[in-house]
Order: sequence, then structure tokens, then C-alpha cells
Amino acid sequence: MSNSVENIEYSQSCIGSALLPGSEADGKGQTDFDHPQAKQMKPLLQELSEVPNSEAMAEVISNYLSKYTPSINDFPCIKNSYSRTILSRSESGMEVLIARWDSGLTSTIHGHPAFAMVYVIAGSLTVEQYEKTESNDIGCVIKTGVKTFDAGNYFYGQGIEGRFDNHIHRIIAAKESLSIHVYSDDALKGEVFSK
Ligand SMILES: [Fe+2]
Repeated sequence: MSNSVENIEYSQSCIGSALLPGSEADGKGQTDFDHPQAKQMKPLLQELSEVPNSEAMAEVISNYLSKYTPSINDFPCIKNSYSRTILSRSESGMEVLIARWDSGLTSTIHGHPAFAMVYVIAGSLTVEQYEKTESNDIGCVIKTGVKTFDAGNYFYGQGIEGRFDNHIHRIIAAKESLSIHVYSDDALKGEVFSK
């Protein structure tokens, strides 16, 4: 099932502030190419490196996870934050990681490299969408929509290469959740707009 994000509400308020050097939310990262799930999911990771576009990538992940569900307990639980376990990274910089979200976590408002995809494996993630304003307020963003994604739902976007202010959003985990993320570059390069 495709679940592209839809704008369902619009806020005029300026929420973001000056750009902060930062990273994807506040999650603690670890690169673990030898993680047991990296070995288990090797066919998926190999296939992802070969698909031609985001639509095909979404289909590959969806098909794979419809038959196999990674265990949330295989990934680190970090209180009041989320863990990032990078399973693979290609020469081009494309990375595949698993995020385990603690219940109640709200991320920063942050941007992404050109391609970003999130598939909810377990739990539920609410995504608030933002856009930069056209004013001269550097780093100012406004909320343009919100949507909740349950297990089996996913969303993705193709933005502008070389920029890290694509697909600006904030993620809220109402309950403990697990998700797989694919980025065309290091997600930690994403611009951050709020604490
Ligand atoms: Fe994000």
C-alpha cells in the first residue's frame, strides 16, 4: 500500500528558527554492517543497491518486509531518544538504516538529502511536514501537513540533489516503534530547524 504524504492542514505560524548545525533528530547512531539483521537482510540490501528509482525501491522494501519482519528487540533501545543502526552504505553514499524509537519521542524539525524513504516496521510514526517560507527569515519553516503512518505504511520523496533541506519534517513516535530508512546520502547532513 502506498502512503504518500498528503497536505491536510496548513499553519501560518513560523515555527522554525535559525538553522542549527545538526543532524537527523537527536538519535544516537551506530554503524554495524555486521549486525545480525544486516546479514539476515543482505538480499534486500543488495537489491536496493540495484533498483533504478524511488518507486522501485519502495516496492522492493515493501515486498521484502511483507514476508519478513525484523525484531524490534534486535536494535538498541535508548530512553527518550532513538537509535540508528546503519546496515549498509554504498559508494555513492546511499545508506540503509534501522531506527528504534522510544515511546513519546519528538524529533527535531529537519531536512534530508535528495532521496529519503521511511517504512514503518512496527509501532506508529506521526510525520509533521514543513516548508521553508519565502520570506527573508533564514531558516524559517511553516507546518504544511501531518499524517500518521502505522506498521506497513511508508512514505518517500525525491528532492534536489546536493541539498539537505529536502522533505523537511518532524517525527513523533506515540509508541515504541521500528522503522527502516533509505537515504541517498548521509542523513546526518540534514539541516536542522529546531530543537
Ligand atoms: Fe527525517
